[in-house]
Amino acid sequence: MKCSADLKGKRASRVSFFLAWLWCLGLGWVLPLSVWADDADLGRDLYHELCAGCHGKDMLKPGLAFDLKTFPANDYSRFEKSVLQGKGNGMPAWLSQLNVDDVRLLWAYVRSGG
Ligand code: HEC
Repeated sequence: MKCSADLKGKRASRVSFFLAWLWCLGLGWVLPLSVWADDADLGRDLYHELCAGCHGKDMLKPGLAFDLKTFPANDYSRFEKSVLQGKGNGMPAWLSQLNVDDVRLLWAYVRSGG
């Protein structure tokens, strides 16, 4: 009797070890994704505070301003330059109000598609 109880205990601990291992594997995948989502969320707040007036709520209906949904997703350096230094006639320079970290949050938001 005692012996079989021990055996059961061992089997149970092996199962929970396996589950813990799976859990770790799962977290390994999920963590970078959730960090990305957080950046996009913070960027969304900034966007709605500063940019939505011209580029449209949730980047929809940008009117005369650039449609950010069509901004090339692989061109961060152009994004940073346009945001910090401004562009053309209508896009203000944000250098005095935003730092590079803010621009990266905005970039995460723009790349998330709104
Ligand atoms: C006062 C209106 C206005 C505000 C506010 C504004 N933009 Fe713009 N933005 C424009 C206009 C107009 C253009 C098109 C400029 C051009 O190409 O001549 C533009 C263009 C852009 C571009 C494309 C530039 C390129 O490389 O072609 C990006 C990226 C951009 N804006 C990001 C932002 C972000 C991020 C914010 C908020 C921090 C913001 N804008 C706030 C009016 C605005």
